[in-house]
Amino acid sequence: MEKLVSSWVGVQTLPENYILPPEKRPGNIIVLPSNQIPVIDLSKAEELGHDRSMIVEQVLEASQDFGCFQVINHGVSENLMDDAMNLFKEFFNLPAEDKASVFPEDPSGICKLYTSSFNYAKEETHFWRDSLRHPCYPFEEFMQFWPEKPTRYREIVGKYSAEVRDLLLRILQLICRGLGLKREYFGHDQFTKDQLLAVNHYPQCPDPSVTLGLPKHCDPNLITIIQQGDVYGLQVFNDGQWLGVKPLPNAFVVNIAYQLQESTKTMAMFVSRLSRDVQSLPEAYVFPPDKRPGELVAPEFNNPIIDFSKSVDETILKILRAGQEFGFFQVINHGISQSLMDEAMVVLQEFFELPSEVKESVFTTDPGKKCRLYSSTLNYETENVHLWRDNLTHPCHPLEDCLRLWPEKPTRYREIVGEYSVEVRNLVLRIFDLICKGLGLEQGYFGNELSGTQLLSVSHYPRCPDPSLALGFHAHRDPNTITILSQGAIYGLQFLKDGEWIGVEPLPNAFVVIIGCQLQIVSNDKLRSAEHRVVTNTEVDRTSIGYFVLPFDDYFVEPAKDLVDDWNPPIYKACQYKQFLSSSVEKKGDYAAAMESNKLQQA
Ligand code: OGA
Ligand code: NI
Repeated sequence: MEKLVSSWVGVQTLPENYILPPEKRPGNIIVLPSNQIPVIDLSKAEELGHDRSMIVEQVLEASQDFGCFQVINHGVSENLMDDAMNLFKEFFNLPAEDKASVFPEDPSGICKLYTSSFNYAKEETHFWRDSLRHPCYPFEEFMQFWPEKPTRYREIVGKYSAEVRDLLLRILQLICRGLGLKREYFGHDQFTKDQLLAVNHYPQCPDPSVTLGLPKHCDPNLITIIQQGDVYGLQVFNDGQWLGVKPLPNAFVVNIAYQLQESTKTMAMFVSRLSRDVQSLPEAYVFPPDKRPGELVAPEFNNPIIDFSKSVDETILKILRAGQEFGFFQVINHGISQSLMDEAMVVLQEFFELPSEVKESVFTTDPGKKCRLYSSTLNYETENVHLWRDNLTHPCHPLEDCLRLWPEKPTRYREIVGEYSVEVRNLVLRIFDLICKGLGLEQGYFGNELSGTQLLSVSHYPRCPDPSLALGFHAHRDPNTITILSQGAIYGLQFLKDGEWIGVEPLPNAFVVIIGCQLQIVSNDKLRSAEHRVVTNTEVDRTSIGYFVLPFDDYFVEPAKDLVDDWNPPIYKACQYKQFLSSSVEKKGDYAAAMESNKLQQA
């Protein structure tokens, strides 16, 4: 039987086999208890309204930033906490014979008392703690295995376990509320079947600088609720340094453990994952009242639809008129086959339905990466509200240079998306031709620098628990030259027209063509970029395939020389595209403001 550290009476020097190798010692750097770990007051956690929302937010933020927080006014009675603490101290001070009755002759025993870790025999160095551990729920089932001494053990620990369990469920419910999960999401067996009480006892130690009570670790379970009494010792590793968890009277320390991290990790990573489990909209997706879509605006039928099988002259006229009045139009009979459009849509939907583990390998918010899968926007960490969308973006021309950057799954991704990209590029060139003719610009005007970069940007908007509060994409103009969008059969896209949002009816086999800011500048306002946004729905997931044509970063975009003269002075200064983008970053991504600031002073 290994010797419990609590029975080493009067040891003056630390035994050899407790001395850690130098790199693992806590050393002489003293980590003082810190105030950094959030302390959350739960007294109003059950009341509806603002206070509870604040508490939910604090819990989520602390869980994300530290994986740990303390709770006070948590509803577990102070007397019971004290009684339990005193009882456990008493237990460890019992004579060795009494403790021996629970010491593990049989390590698979239900109630275990052991020292250091379960691997005592294989450990290179031992840890300076003893631990008593037994299941505590449902307690009628396990009580018979608990220690019989001290006499009140079963009575007090029974009550204590019940109250702490109740607290644990309330904390999980706050987390569920924050994530928009059903109240009972973690209630079922997969997560909370077993509940263990583990009492760690760390006796006074002759040399705390070379040994540890427990090594650095993450708890493997779902969540841990710790009463640490009034003696400091617990430290949390955060941002490369250790933070001491200050002992506070009547507080519990809550540790987010591995299972909880894992089960929520990919949820936070992709809304397509999150949407499967949520029943209400998580707080982080609720837009402020003035930006909410509110009641659903039905799609309209009277926005411009241009039939490319009609005569060239008629088509040109319609493009110019739609570009001026609406800033967008739909194109039908464009020559791209329905089957190719459908296949591309199916393979892209399949991509978003791949298991999160597969998508994780493509996940990145690094704008330097050519192929990016991310949720909301690349500013996820800093944005105030998240968009209800996941997005996959990668270059799509010239094909031979970019195919290898694309996802390898689903298997037909590269083949189908490759073919789709080539066809849409041809359509873009055709539209550019028509615009050139219409505006009176030389053929090929848009052919080089203004369309230097071509990106496929696929957005996936999963069904959403509350479309009146969330947005798939906030109101914006497209900053680029032109966008060719396939929106499948699901409605969601809206444009701002004369101060009102109008919905774009999804037409089978149509593309939505969106005039971007750079085309507005080049055309000297003959075509205009329109504000648009994406709303969500509760019924079906929506996927849109955007083909984005962008100028080269270094290219100076300016009103075409052929469009300006004394009667039509240029409205905009020449501005490098990358400059335009960075100036709109300063304006919080408001491209309209960036265009405004790019205007020449009116005489
Ligand atoms: C965009 C956009 C619309 C849509 O990606 O810029 O406006 O329907 N998308 O997804
Ligand atoms: Ni857009």
